[in-house]
Amino acid sequence: MSSSSTPFTPDQQKAQAALKALEFIHDEQILGLGTGSTVHHFLAALGQRVQQGLRVRGVPTSEATAVYAKQLGIPLLNDEEPWDIDVAVDGADQVDPQLNLIKGGGGALMREKIVANAARQFIVIVDQAKQVPHLGLPFPLPVEIVPFGWRTTQRHLENLGWPSPLRYKDGQPFLTDNGNYIADLHIPEITDPSALDSSIRQIPGVVECGLFLMMTSLVITGTNSGPMLHRAS
Ligand code: 5RP
Repeated sequence: MSSSSTPFTPDQQKAQAALKALEFIHDEQILGLGTGSTVHHFLAALGQRVQQGLRVRGVPTSEATAVYAKQLGIPLLNDEEPWDIDVAVDGADQVDPQLNLIKGGGGALMREKIVANAARQFIVIVDQAKQVPHLGLPFPLPVEIVPFGWRTTQRHLENLGWPSPLRYKDGQPFLTDNGNYIADLHIPEITDPSALDSSIRQIPGVVECGLFLMMTSLVITGTNSGPMLHRAS
């Protein structure tokens, strides 16, 4: 454990939260496997446990997670049957005091939401900087939209009141694993997440919104004094 003079880096805090999450994983479980750098730590540790004999099967939330999980020897489920997931473990971009989340910084929000929603327990692993008093800037809210008519969908999003630029990567529109685009909504403070979520999802062309509301069972936050647990009330 670190003293206050030698704080843990954000990456060390992520690793700390990821290792703590492993304590909630048991033999024979079906696991939702999230996406991102915090989950990367979780997968590495889970892979070691699988090598040692832990029997679990995973449902990946992105192509990147599927590739890494396969490298680690973590068996994956396909889409042949409805998923009955015991625990989904994922990162987040922001967590508010009610354990509502912004997700989608890595663009995997749609698969992440399907998997989290199919899980009996949704464990979120984050570093301390992700804890915020309210959702909103400096982190923009990702919204996945279909490419067809995207400028029109974007105009509807902007009519809600905030700049909603399309996300770009290497000079091209960022493409999700589903072949869609992402608009990032620059909202200073999300005062009513539920109303905003409804407004966004009513717009034709919107596939998914990065607000994960009332879904979280447990947040594990890596901090300078060790992992902190916040359970949903
Ligand atoms: C990907 C996500 C990630 O969980 C989120 O961006 C956090 O990522 P990281 O663990 O790298 O900070 O929602 O779509």
